[in-house]
Amino acid sequence: MLFTCAPKFRLPSSSLLVFRRYHHVPGTSEVSAWMPEAAGFGGVRDRSGLQDFSVGRAESFWAAAARHRLSWIRPFRTVQDCDFSRGHITWFGGGRLNVSVNCLDRHVQNSPERVALIWERDEPGSEVKVTYRQLLEMTCRLGNLLRRRGVKRGGCVTIYMPPCPLAVAAMLACARIGAAHNVVFAGFSAEALAERIRDAQSSTVITVNQGVRGGKVIELKKTVDTAVQSCPSVQQVLVAMRTENPVVMTARDVAMEEEMLLEDTVCEPAAMDSEDTLFLLYTSGSTGKPKGLVHTQAGYLLYASLTHRYVFDYHDGDVFGCVADIGWITGHSYSVYGPLANGATTVLFESTPVYPDPGRYWEMVQRLQINQFYGAPTAIRLLLKYGDQWVHKYDRSSLKTLGSVGEPINTEAWEWYHRVVGGGRCPVVDTWWQTETGGICIAPRPSEPEAEIIPGMAMRPFFGIKPALMDSEGKELTSNNTSGALCIAQPWPGMARTIFNDHQRFIDTYCRPYPGYFFTGDGAYRSEEGYYQITGRLDDVINVSGHRIGTAEIEDVLNQCPAVAESAAIGYSHDIKGQGVYAFVVLKTSVDIQEGALSQQLKNMVAKGIAKYACPDCIQIVQRLPKTRSGKIMRRVLRKVVECDLDGLGDLSTLDDPAAVQEAIKGHCDLCRKEQVQ
Ligand code: PRX
Repeated sequence: MLFTCAPKFRLPSSSLLVFRRYHHVPGTSEVSAWMPEAAGFGGVRDRSGLQDFSVGRAESFWAAAARHRLSWIRPFRTVQDCDFSRGHITWFGGGRLNVSVNCLDRHVQNSPERVALIWERDEPGSEVKVTYRQLLEMTCRLGNLLRRRGVKRGGCVTIYMPPCPLAVAAMLACARIGAAHNVVFAGFSAEALAERIRDAQSSTVITVNQGVRGGKVIELKKTVDTAVQSCPSVQQVLVAMRTENPVVMTARDVAMEEEMLLEDTVCEPAAMDSEDTLFLLYTSGSTGKPKGLVHTQAGYLLYASLTHRYVFDYHDGDVFGCVADIGWITGHSYSVYGPLANGATTVLFESTPVYPDPGRYWEMVQRLQINQFYGAPTAIRLLLKYGDQWVHKYDRSSLKTLGSVGEPINTEAWEWYHRVVGGGRCPVVDTWWQTETGGICIAPRPSEPEAEIIPGMAMRPFFGIKPALMDSEGKELTSNNTSGALCIAQPWPGMARTIFNDHQRFIDTYCRPYPGYFFTGDGAYRSEEGYYQITGRLDDVINVSGHRIGTAEIEDVLNQCPAVAESAAIGYSHDIKGQGVYAFVVLKTSVDIQEGALSQQLKNMVAKGIAKYACPDCIQIVQRLPKTRSGKIMRRVLRKVVECDLDGLGDLSTLDDPAAVQEAIKGHCDLCRKEQVQ
């Protein structure tokens, strides 16, 4: 069944929270032994003192961390120069460094044969290990190839690849020569890819001939071929071979691996300013146009490295298993940059949680001896349904920390993850953050020894993060046991600097709603004890299986259908995906169409225009949409209709035509009935 009249997954309200405590005792309470950066922080006795220091004396904290954790070509002169009102954010001014040197060369010097990447390919047991020496060599060859083919410092390369060592080498090769990368999730359609290539003005695209996922072959090069037809900026497409099947190559295409072999294995790293762009990453907002968030060099890398070390309690020699795709910020920060900056062995997961069976993750944990596993609630909810036996079949004793990201984790899934997957031994860290924040901002760790973790709560701000909850008048709520709009009250090095080519949108979206604060777009609850729980988006962004999609983006595609007059896409609670997409469409009066066929046509259009994950689960045809007298669609009302929460319809006095709501309710009930019969 697609949806139910009584959605089962809801965030527990504060009164429903299960207040069971999970205690975890880290090794030492000596702050500087645990965090060497803290050695110079006089007077800091414990980790909560460290938290206060990191916020109260942020400059000293971040300067020490930046000196300790990063290798600089030229030391920075200023720590920060930030002014939220102008959206002006600068960290480590005057400093120069190279991110690929920080992620590769310095580890090659100490332990060249340490495994940097374990490429967990689709077929279990066919993993490939790549040492730091090999990854540096790959990166240098590719850096030289890009340079020889005209990619300049300051240029932008679009990468459309599944997780694989060459994709990581491509990201690092860009960093090496000072070009920005723009990784586009390889599940996006040709149209969505083209839009991102055009906006980023890339002249070079890197892809693979075909992808392989869940036993299926995906024609990635063909998608690129279609995309670049509408991208006049693209001069060359570098094609790596993931499978042995040849693809049609045109004069524009370059056989990447063949040409890499001709290149030198030494590539001079560019000395980059701290604030030069490291990458763009597109994400959805509340308008139809995705925004290219810009992250820069030093601050981003430092923040990814520090959070990777302390949120997951990563130690030298651990195998870190983040199963996110490199096309999302999670893959950037915790499959690539954070772990590599820390000299870790990091897993690149190419498959799905259920291929070849629902034991895939845990079989992989056993085979690769993974110490920290970082996944998404949607996958945990799915696997929970298959039963404990798939977990028990495998030895998970290597696991030390379990992480969750991308969406709220409901208590049932949290408990299962903790009890069944972690055998009750491993702390579960529910990590809240966003593409905009660059790295984890709220998570249970780091914290005092013996600190509690409450299921389903992201808990505590990370070092240097000062969360604030705002009321509807824009005033900060200072008491506990309260809910509001989640802002961050002071800058931190990992935050995005701007939206590519649209700084005004950056200011309007993040800095203007609550002057003096960075607005996250999420709502949050702060408990009596001061712990945070994320309650979901406050804007028109839906979170499907941990992937963001703007309602306006979906509506833009639906409205392109000649039969459609207008539409409203909304998110609703979904058992597995967290949220699903439900669309109401109004047809043009002259149209005489068969509903089932139209629904399918509209779903195909969304898959083609954006990606499969954005497809509405359900399309309901209505005569009109409920609107205010000024013509605004009342999505709040439609959301309540879909969740069958008629008591929660709220104030309908501003409604232009109350019959529209009645019609939506009746149509929805008819659809529910049909679903139940099937
Ligand atoms: O709504 C929050 C939700 O995901 C959004 C960020 O999406 P994206 O930029 O794609 O990055 C996802 C991976 C970091 C947030 O605004 N979100 C993320 N993590 C959590 C979460 N919601 C609740 N709990 C979380 N742990």
